[in-house]
Amino acid sequence: MILSMNTQTIFVGLVIGLLVYYVIKRMRYRLPPGPWCIPLIGHYNVYTAADLHRKVYEISKDYGPVVRLSFGPVMVIVLNDIQVALEALIKKKTDFAGRPKMKSGDAFSGGGKDIAMSNYSPTWKFHRRIAGKALRHYLQGDLLEQMIQDNMNKFLDKMAQEKEPFSFKYYSNLMVFHQIYTICFGEKRCVDDQEVKTILQLDEELNDHVAKGFLEDIIPYMDTIYPSHNWQAFVKKMDQIIDYTRGKFKQHVDTFDPGVNRDFIDSMLIARQEAENEGDEAVLEKLDDIYLIHTVVDIFFAGLDTTRFTMDWFMYFMTSFPEIQSKCHEEIDREVGSEHPSMKHRNKLPYLEACMFETMRLGAAVGLGIAHMSICDSQIGGYDIPKDTMVIINHWALHHDPKYWKDPEKFDPHRYLDENGKMKPARPDSWLPFSAGRRVCLGETLAKPEILLMCANLLKRFDIRLPEGVKPNLEHHIWGNGIELPSEYKIVVQERNGQ
Ligand code: HEM
Repeated sequence: MILSMNTQTIFVGLVIGLLVYYVIKRMRYRLPPGPWCIPLIGHYNVYTAADLHRKVYEISKDYGPVVRLSFGPVMVIVLNDIQVALEALIKKKTDFAGRPKMKSGDAFSGGGKDIAMSNYSPTWKFHRRIAGKALRHYLQGDLLEQMIQDNMNKFLDKMAQEKEPFSFKYYSNLMVFHQIYTICFGEKRCVDDQEVKTILQLDEELNDHVAKGFLEDIIPYMDTIYPSHNWQAFVKKMDQIIDYTRGKFKQHVDTFDPGVNRDFIDSMLIARQEAENEGDEAVLEKLDDIYLIHTVVDIFFAGLDTTRFTMDWFMYFMTSFPEIQSKCHEEIDREVGSEHPSMKHRNKLPYLEACMFETMRLGAAVGLGIAHMSICDSQIGGYDIPKDTMVIINHWALHHDPKYWKDPEKFDPHRYLDENGKMKPARPDSWLPFSAGRRVCLGETLAKPEILLMCANLLKRFDIRLPEGVKPNLEHHIWGNGIELPSEYKIVVQERNGQ
């Protein structure tokens, strides 16, 4: 009895002590404001909502651009205005260049052994540099445009054969997948390749799991003690993807010739070979198989989903606003004529480029970006942000802020054009689809020409419409995790080869 009283007393004392420590520690900081919530449970109705980005934006109207929320016991700061976002990303770029440690991020990255999920460190910097160099390889000469031509032509031919209205998403998913597949694994697969379809299906399912969110990211040890079905299915599918990439990686190692650069994996192997030749043990350690495999997984998925969602949105806008599509046709006919759209036409298609920029603003391919973390005590918007705090940029909010965008919901390519119809030299203030600073999207310089050339190829060949009598469906499909997609739509295409 005495023993149990003592145990209880010690336990209660410990809890009170911890609470007092927690409150005192918090009082040291002038934290950003946020709505009241039940301690430990946090803002449950916000962090479990599919339209989290929209809900937080609404909250920011009452609490200001820097909003403090609790995802369970985890404090999260969400930035909803470009000024505070740039303060964190550019002005204090190193302070907020970290990534929070989350179970789902660990499952994706083998415990942070990649680029996107790994914390700010010399190893991350090194991998980012090597991977950036490998991606830039595709911007040399006509490599990118040749790859896009080859990959697209086979799908455009298929689209031309469609007799009934069909889903564009089916084709755009495959086009983008084949491109990123060629970048990473070198091979070109045939149009109906079953392996491709299986991986795409796996990617869709993984996205579904991520969109639902994981309590395992919030509740400590839940993944080991009482894992949810969503979590178990996610981990299983993630393992399948990593196994698949490991197989491809091994094939490359077995057939590697340092004099021949077939693809992204070879670029990484060449970097390793160079380190070996120089006897640089420290670098070699950072280039072991596990790191390289996870870097390939990163590039594959970061490049696949963002690009295919953007293409889906682009076609949705082009079919919703045929008059805008006609202007793109006129520009392509005038500037490209009978040639194939290529890198040399890039600066000659400002109207099309403006449509792509507006698509990236309104089509929320990554509405909440990838969470950052403060690596030291810092400040944003005059508030204190303690070390190790999760910080999220609400790209969706920046792209819908009426302070910067007149009629934010309107699709208007003229926002990016000057009075002569040329792209304005500076991007609009609150346009930030690729983020900025230390963690800026590594694929931005590849994604922009890739998407532009894909759009130019599509519109050069086809007049694309909604089926007769069908009106644009203005409702968005809110997928979760800040991602919105157009509601399902079908299209019909007509060849423009007479143009
Ligand atoms: C429309 C296309 C794309 C959009 C809108 C986009 C957007 C983004 C955003 C918002 C981030 C998070 C930045 C941050 O943490 O602040 C990111 C990170 C990243 N993206 Fe992209 N992305 C696109 C295409 C690509 C492509 C094609 C690739 C590679 C081929 C790529 C590779 C990456 C990587 C590796 C990261 C992680 C960077 C790091 O943590 O250091 N992305 N992207």
